[in-house]
Amino acid sequence: MQVFPTIAALQGSLADARRAGFRIGLVPTMGALHSGHISLVERCGAENEVTVVSIFVNPTQFNDPRDLAVYPRTLPQDLELLRDSCCTRVFAPSVEEMYPEPDHRAFHFGALEQVMEGVRRPGHFNGVAQIVSKLFEATVPHSAYFGEKDFQQLAIIRAMVRQLQLPVRIVGCPIVREPDGLAMSSRNRLLTPEHRKSAVLISDTLLKSVTLSRVLTIEALCEWVEMRINADPLLQTEYFAIVDREELQPARFWGDPRGLQGCIAVQAGQVRLIDNIAYE
Ligand code: PAJ
Repeated sequence: MQVFPTIAALQGSLADARRAGFRIGLVPTMGALHSGHISLVERCGAENEVTVVSIFVNPTQFNDPRDLAVYPRTLPQDLELLRDSCCTRVFAPSVEEMYPEPDHRAFHFGALEQVMEGVRRPGHFNGVAQIVSKLFEATVPHSAYFGEKDFQQLAIIRAMVRQLQLPVRIVGCPIVREPDGLAMSSRNRLLTPEHRKSAVLISDTLLKSVTLSRVLTIEALCEWVEMRINADPLLQTEYFAIVDREELQPARFWGDPRGLQGCIAVQAGQVRLIDNIAYE
């Protein structure tokens, strides 16, 4: 496994692989790696001869400077984890390497960014599109792997690839959870032990909501989810929305042929957690 700090060095090493006819897969991450990330790396390794994992805490996607300041950075441990995986190349650039000058590009995703995270975190998805498009340009992967944990981000990236007509296949991968159900996240390690205990209520409520979706209206189910989570004084629901799986617009009826997804953001003390679940 080789580690590259610059685009030029990474591209040099990928040129040989490309000439040899190898498929190149990319897994973009911000580090503080856990089994959720590793599941993407393994899927990538199963489908490509070359697996590039990028580790870069992208400043342009943080709308809250405090969130950027406390975001966990654990490069030595990340490299250890990756050495035991099928990752062949790590791209770990500096901020200067990715942004030698300010990125003034403005992406527009229409209705897709006017719901949920797009509304609560202004500028977030523009920053995600900026960095992911740069990573695609640096790597030129055949396929790139993203988690359904960030359901809206996955939809935004698919939209960006369509807009820019990029020849990259986007692969969505299922959410990996802790044994008690909490969706794995780099931010989980910032939770106090008390908030960590309470946080299990999020996935537990989502799971139970699938059963209740057979008997409640969409509005009643949304109310039930918020009430159940907010009953814990350590948790505060920011939003819970049931949306269609393509445009991510609020669902009006259960039988929507595009399929429906329940998406939630919860404040647990200083930490903001997101999760989602499919309604069959
Ligand atoms: P990060 O939060 O590090 O996540 C990197 C990838 O891992 C994302 O595609 C995310 O959806 C996926 N992931 C995180 N937790 C997961 C889990 N529990 N199960 C399955 N997949 C999971 O998302 C980002 O970084 C950044 O926005 C990035 C795309 C790298 C751009 O900076």
